[in-house]
Amino acid sequence: SPGLAIYDPGFVNTASCRSAVTFIDGEKGILEYRGYPIEQLAESSTFLEVAYLLINGALPSKAEYEQWVHDITYHTFVHENVKSFMEGFRYDAHPMGMLMASVGALSTFYPEAGVIGDADNRMIQIIRMIAKMPTLGAWSFRNAQGKPFVYPDNELSYTANFLSMLFKMSESRYEADERLVKALDTLFILHADHEQNCSANAVRSVGSSQVDPYSAVAAGIGALYGPLHGGANEAVLRMLRRIGSKSEIPAFIEGVKNGNEKLMGFGHRVYKNYDPRAKIIKKACDDVFDVTGVNPLLEIAQELEKIALEDDYFVSRKLYPNVDFYSGLIYEAFQFPPEMFTVLFAIGRTPGWLAQWLELTQDKEQKIARPKQIYTGDRGLDFTPRDQRW
Ligand code: SDX
Repeated sequence: SPGLAIYDPGFVNTASCRSAVTFIDGEKGILEYRGYPIEQLAESSTFLEVAYLLINGALPSKAEYEQWVHDITYHTFVHENVKSFMEGFRYDAHPMGMLMASVGALSTFYPEAGVIGDADNRMIQIIRMIAKMPTLGAWSFRNAQGKPFVYPDNELSYTANFLSMLFKMSESRYEADERLVKALDTLFILHADHEQNCSANAVRSVGSSQVDPYSAVAAGIGALYGPLHGGANEAVLRMLRRIGSKSEIPAFIEGVKNGNEKLMGFGHRVYKNYDPRAKIIKKACDDVFDVTGVNPLLEIAQELEKIALEDDYFVSRKLYPNVDFYSGLIYEAFQFPPEMFTVLFAIGRTPGWLAQWLELTQDKEQKIARPKQIYTGDRGLDFTPRDQRW
């Protein structure tokens, strides 16, 4: 299947996926979206401009960008039945479970989304999903908080609107500090795509059956939910809290070396040097902490990183901080509970999933996913009658 990674179980993934969306060089720590280095995009672009780049393959002109922002702003609301559906979840439902279910539910509100051969229709669904993901993500948070859902305020920018739907507590407009809006927008950029990661592969695999994009992205959300993938940022905070103080770090490191647990936020399937996003996120920490005050867990994280980077166990296994090691510290400084961290990852990753889904639907050679298997079971056995077995 040209559009999918082919796995040799028990060995390394043997990718055979062609894509022009994202380039990674794991040895050199390079990440580029449509050829543009992540460092330049994080520094100078906006999340919606990067979303346009990923989906359309080029940076937008002024007119194209204004139309793009208008169209996305226009689609931030969701049908009231979706709101009722989300209000039906238990009070303690995990936001990622709610997000996965709600995005999947959207496929029943837009049955035309299954007509994936129509280019205009594909773009309408893409715009709808980028627009509605923050609304669904914010409502998953409000449900967990036991607070009423806040409707989009389309006078605000995309990321400021998301923060408003999360934290608004009165009738007056919620205006988040611009530095926080910028930092969260940058975090969304850093998470926007990442080649053939587990969740992108899930989207491609499900999408190769020619199902609608909502169902394919719901599968990606399910993959991202896992602690080895998107759930790692939540696990990092729990790990730092459990370590508790710098003096406890050596004992924790010994536990990792003994195989008791992993150093969450370290290691990567591709980056065998540093994850370029981790460097940028570390800088964003300073910007956020200038506003919110320093997260007390930062000191433990920095000491843990320092010790690990000098320890042969990690260096010999080429384990370095990945995108998740510091992102949780920022999210916690925003007052997000850990179970919301992966929802933030999902909102950021949505344009990447959709860019790869779109690429898949445009690939005329694309066939349905059918990864190779290496059979390791028995062969040619004769059935033993039950009276001889029981
Ligand atoms: C993301 O694919 C993507 O692009 C994902 C992502 C994206 O943007 O989509 O980048 C986002 O998922 C980042 C990764 C977040 N996950 C974590 O931080 C969880 C902790 N990390 C690990 O679970 C692990 O590093 C993985 C899952 C990320 C990678 O697993 P691999 O490919 O098995 O790691 P490896 O082959 O490089 O491991 C080599 C050795 C092994 O030990 P030995 O068998 O040689 O003795 O290193 C060990 C591993 O057990 N190891 C770790 C470790 N990660 C690998 N040991 C301790 N702590 C770790 N974190």
